[in-house]
Amino acid sequence: MQKLNIVILAAGLGKRMYSALPKVLHQLAGKPLLSHVLDTAHALLPQTICVVYGHGDETIPKTIADNELIWVKQEPQLGTGHALMQSLPHLDEKGVTLVLYGDVPLTRVETLKELITAASSENLVLLTVELNEPSGYGRIMRDVETGKISAIVEEKDASLVQRQIHEVNTGIMAVPNARLHDWLPRLENKNAQKEYYLTDIVAMATTVGVKIEAAHPCHTWEVLGVNSKVQLAVLERIYQNEFANKLLEQGVTLADPARIDIRGQLDCGKDVEIDINCIFEGLVKLGDGVRVGAHSILKNVKVEVDTTIFPFSLIENADIGKNCRIGPFSRIRPGTRLANKVHVGNFVEVKNSSIAIGSKANHLSYIGDTTIGKNVNVGAGTITCNYDGANKHQTIIEDNVFIGSNTQLIAPVKVAKGSTIGAGSTITRDTPPEELTLSRAKQMSIAGWKRPVKKEKDEK
Ligand code: UD1
Ligand code: CA
Repeated sequence: MQKLNIVILAAGLGKRMYSALPKVLHQLAGKPLLSHVLDTAHALLPQTICVVYGHGDETIPKTIADNELIWVKQEPQLGTGHALMQSLPHLDEKGVTLVLYGDVPLTRVETLKELITAASSENLVLLTVELNEPSGYGRIMRDVETGKISAIVEEKDASLVQRQIHEVNTGIMAVPNARLHDWLPRLENKNAQKEYYLTDIVAMATTVGVKIEAAHPCHTWEVLGVNSKVQLAVLERIYQNEFANKLLEQGVTLADPARIDIRGQLDCGKDVEIDINCIFEGLVKLGDGVRVGAHSILKNVKVEVDTTIFPFSLIENADIGKNCRIGPFSRIRPGTRLANKVHVGNFVEVKNSSIAIGSKANHLSYIGDTTIGKNVNVGAGTITCNYDGANKHQTIIEDNVFIGSNTQLIAPVKVAKGSTIGAGSTITRDTPPEELTLSRAKQMSIAGWKRPVKKEKDEK
């Protein structure tokens, strides 16, 4: 295969975002627009990837932090041709350069492969598309007789007749490097916008007999750019809709494909069911038969087969075993590992803890920095007091422990195997195995005690 260089143009101002954040750093599906383009670019296995940036300080290179990239600053920004020219020293003498835009995030790898394959040292390939509403785009001029592309005319420079053309330039193109080295320095800015138009290389190609071809995306959304929050929101919905359809096609049951948000990767086994308004972030893996209840948020979570997550549960950076029951209203925080058949119920928070097979914490508890053994029952309202105001301490609860309701376990503390803790206890020392431990004021009744009564207010 021929050498491939990729240049991503990302120096535009993005004024219509009305934001201090550079446009290409605005997020789509939980990740910057530019990162979507970079992922696509990496998938094409190019020799080099150059990103032309300009707006703002070094926020873009700092945020993206990808050391395989060549960062090229364009200042001032004098047009797309000028932008590409800044990267010229980094382009090989031979081979092909693919030009992408940092604000066009959804182009499919397959579409670009087609474009690159069609390009050669004597072929320039443009990605074009027919739009019902072409205004704002550069129009593709074709020879009336041969139908061949002869030039691109920017809307601002186009005549009324040229503006009737519906085939537009998406801006994405594959150009032979040898020609770029020749053409780019010769671009002029004699046009309505006083800019160096990259699109002018098309007319240059015609004069020297370089063939100009067009490739087309399967879907129009592949070439849509983001210039405003409105367009960003539209692309977000398109992305989510495509992802939801992919899940349905794999056999996942979605209560409503229009009400799911995936901001990362979601891998599902067979017979997975996802109710409405769930959000998946980072890397989430759901095993066969997993059910996720409505309004749940899962971030970097692995859930094994046949586990049910009931509605309104928040789970982050955790591993959940098989046949578990989580929620409703559970909060599972980072560093949690649940073995098989664990139940975590409503208003239970678990942080940086592991719970072994068959154990349950069903109501209103906080379990932090704790190791829980097998078949433990944590009563309602149990709290592991893991923080002394300065440091965090561990609680160990061994197998077959029964902890009565409303117990405080003051860490560091160990509740030994088979212990029973009486309800309402504050446990400050390790407990012996297989015994009942309780710490509780003795119940008493005071004979003849009277409730206080309100003093009568003086009448006026
Ligand atoms: C460009 C094309 C137009 C095409 C349209 C598709 C030219 C002259 N025109 O127009 O034919 O229909 O895209 O959206 O190429 N950029 C820089 N530096 C600059 C100017 C732009 O890096 O000095 C980057 C922008 O960040 C953006 C891309 O290039 O990613 C396109 O710039 P934009 O201003 O949107 O181009 P248009 O004028 O819309
Ligand atoms: Ca644009």
